[in-house]
Amino acid sequence: MIKILDKTFEIYIEETKILQRVAELGKELDRDFKDKNPLMISVLNGAFIFSADLIRCMGIQPEITFIRVASYEELQSTGKVKEVLGLKENIFNRDILLVEDIVDTGETLSYLVEMFETLGPKSISIVTLLHKPEAQQKSKKPDYIGFEIPPKFVLGYGLDYNGLGRELRDLYQLV
Ligand code: XMP
Ligand code: MG
Repeated sequence: MIKILDKTFEIYIEETKILQRVAELGKELDRDFKDKNPLMISVLNGAFIFSADLIRCMGIQPEITFIRVASYEELQSTGKVKEVLGLKENIFNRDILLVEDIVDTGETLSYLVEMFETLGPKSISIVTLLHKPEAQQKSKKPDYIGFEIPPKFVLGYGLDYNGLGRELRDLYQLV
């Protein structure tokens, strides 16, 4: 158990299990993108650790860049997505691989997919470490999912509570 600010969290998925699954996802992506030249777009802030581990598990040496969006305040989605840091890369005719930490309401993902579709990519695929299927309403299902989880707040491995806890190696769940 750990305490962050006013909340208590317990371990939910241990680091070894996360890394094992990330390596499997890397292999799947290698297989599916070996004849392509994908542009990986990591969605900051939450996906920074997952993206770093994932790209180092891959053999195909893809290009990676970052976009920053925010929709969460404390423990809840605000329902509105803000694009905070834009993209400079050319998306036209590229195979895009969006890397997300978690798909919850799907608001962020549907916003990003709609925005990228206007830029004429060849394809858009989505890989997410975590997916909350019960909470999901707004977007298409991600193409690659690390773990399906219940609609409970999680933190660690890049995910935060009010900006804290991103450095934790295991994933934690709100008690
Ligand atoms: P939506 O609802 O747009 O949410 O699919 C996507 C973004 O919200 C954040 N999020 C969380 N962050 N623990 C977190 O630390 C959670 O349980 C959680 N659920 C959603 C996250 O940034 C994600 O990209
Ligand atoms: Mg995120």
